[in-house]
Amino acid sequence: MKGVVPLFVGIFGTFAFSWAGLALIPSMQIGHLQPQMDEEGNDVYPAPQSGLAERGRRVYTANGCVYCHTQQVRPDYAASDIKRKWGQRRSAPRDYLFDRPVLLGRMRTGPDLANVGKRAPSDDVNAPAPDSTTAATVGASPPPPGAAAPPPAQTPPGTPGSPSAEPDPAAGATAEAGVPPGPGGAPSPAPAVAAQTAETGAGPTATTSPDNEPLEYSAAWHHRHLYDPRSVNPWSTMPSFRFLYEKRRITGEAAADALKLGGPDVAPDGWEVVPTYDARALVAYLMSLDQSHELKEVRGASPASPPAPGKAVK
Ligand code: HEC
Repeated sequence: MKGVVPLFVGIFGTFAFSWAGLALIPSMQIGHLQPQMDEEGNDVYPAPQSGLAERGRRVYTANGCVYCHTQQVRPDYAASDIKRKWGQRRSAPRDYLFDRPVLLGRMRTGPDLANVGKRAPSDDVNAPAPDSTTAATVGASPPPPGAAAPPPAQTPPGTPGSPSAEPDPAAGATAEAGVPPGPGGAPSPAPAVAAQTAETGAGPTATTSPDNEPLEYSAAWHHRHLYDPRSVNPWSTMPSFRFLYEKRRITGEAAADALKLGGPDVAPDGWEVVPTYDARALVAYLMSLDQSHELKEVRGASPASPPAPGKAVK
């Protein structure tokens, strides 16, 4: 009988101690995080996402993307995530302030997606993308400068091309970009044609070219990748999410966001493959993933600062 009280105090103490360590203290540390802003109250980060992107998060959750993809960049002392170009700095709790649920993930069958939106070509290329898609599908001539701009950018030159060359897994895709996706398909002349048109900047040919590939990490690229990952990365083990797309007869005008497919996936004449609302939401969500904004609590880890003097730069 005498030992009962100390026993209960001991048990209670054990639980109280672990509760404090695992719940109370972390909550005090990060439970009241607010978005960061500069002195004038501008440049708020993070900010809530659009409704479409929020819905996309649900699609992401519902389809188990989290089983194969993480959304967390680990610090450079712990892992090589930053070297892999998955981010320029490590992730921090503040990055996830508005995420419900937080989709950190723990399996990396596929690449980390914490910054996949940042990998997108660039805003001005993204915005007109659907239009140039229209031009491609309709086969109309319209704004040749806008329509012609994306394809050449993919092949050689500077600005928008360089980010696409960065991510490791994408390296394969970049190399592969010229190769028509359909392994069964014959069209070998296609890449050459595309390259020529890219050089000459000939608009109309480029838009009608069968392998008018969408720019890497653009919305059109994401759709195509989700529809058939192997059309983008022949070695991909990612399942296809075709059920998020609808194959339908073209009635009247072809849809602006109809997928540009190649090889065996090409829709028969008079048919088109269009993203469902869920697919569009999912892509909006993917393109919203961006942790590149600087955070004061991780400035030290950011490689944006010049490399450590002691370290040889190779
Ligand atoms: C069975 C595992 C698996 C599942 C489930 C999965 N993926 Fe993937 N994912 C991969 C693999 C492997 C790659 C790399 C090859 C490739 O690019 O297709 C990849 C690549 C990607 C990429 C390109 C990333 C980059 O940096 O190049 C995106 C975007 C992506 N997945 C999104 C999704 C979304 C969205 C879902 C859910 C609808 C999903 N994945 C479900 C395995 C998976």
